[in-house]
Amino acid sequence: MSPDSLLSVCNLGKTFSVREGLRTRRLAVLADVSFEVERGEAVALVGASGSGKSTCARIITGLVAASAGQVHLRGTVQMIFQDPFASLNPVHTVGYHLVRPVIRHRKARGRAAVTARVHELLTSVGLMPAAEFAAKFPHQLSGGPRQRGARARALAVEPELIVADEPTSMLDASIRIGVLNLLRDLKEQRGIALLLITHDLASARYLADRTLTMEAGRIVDAPAEPLSASA
Ligand SMILES: Nc1ncnc2c1ncn2[C@@H]1O[C@H](COP(=O)(O)OP(=O)(O)O)[C@@H](O)[C@H]1O
Ligand SMILES: [Mg+2]
Repeated sequence: MSPDSLLSVCNLGKTFSVREGLRTRRLAVLADVSFEVERGEAVALVGASGSGKSTCARIITGLVAASAGQVHLRGTVQMIFQDPFASLNPVHTVGYHLVRPVIRHRKARGRAAVTARVHELLTSVGLMPAAEFAAKFPHQLSGGPRQRGARARALAVEPELIVADEPTSMLDASIRIGVLNLLRDLKEQRGIALLLITHDLASARYLADRTLTMEAGRIVDAPAEPLSASA
């Protein structure tokens, strides 16, 4: 692992066991995946649907165990999912979703300080007035604000690296650019490194310093056929 790298993925492999009737088939999804992300760097991982991008993200963030290889991390990583609604609990307010990580990661102590930190997070992603948004439930937010809420939650732990898995694919084109700008601000103003997972080459070009292409579970030098830029 080079001294500047925040994330180092070495020879990662993943095989799933898939049941087919009475048989179990082994499905190799990742093979020999290696790359690094340096401090403050934005790296895009692009590839067609099914090429293994999300599996790679889930292994990096500890949601799925690797079958082979290693992940080395320095610092805190936070993940932003494709569907921000699915990652928010419908019975809790937006504020509650932020209070938890702020307390757990000891970013503020005492009721007033925690509330102030939550409001600061909401304001930083453009959810204003913060007190009003803190009291809302996930279903009361439309796509754009919901993505902003997910982003505020990612920031609550003050991560060094954000792994964003298709962060704009569920959004209308009109909101998409706002979310991309927000991610770019995180990188440029706060120096947060970004692993952007996408099948959309345009957003990869917009945000990333460097692009890695995944094909059938492997990182390849160049895509065999161009990916659709509009998908
Ligand atoms: N939990 C799982 N069990 C079995 N197969 C899986 C599982 N998760 C993903 N896969 C399979 O792994 C392959 C890669 O999936 P994924 O990582 O989601 O790709 P991508 O994000 O690039 O679309 C697909 O063929 C998918 O069906
Ligand atoms: Mg995926």
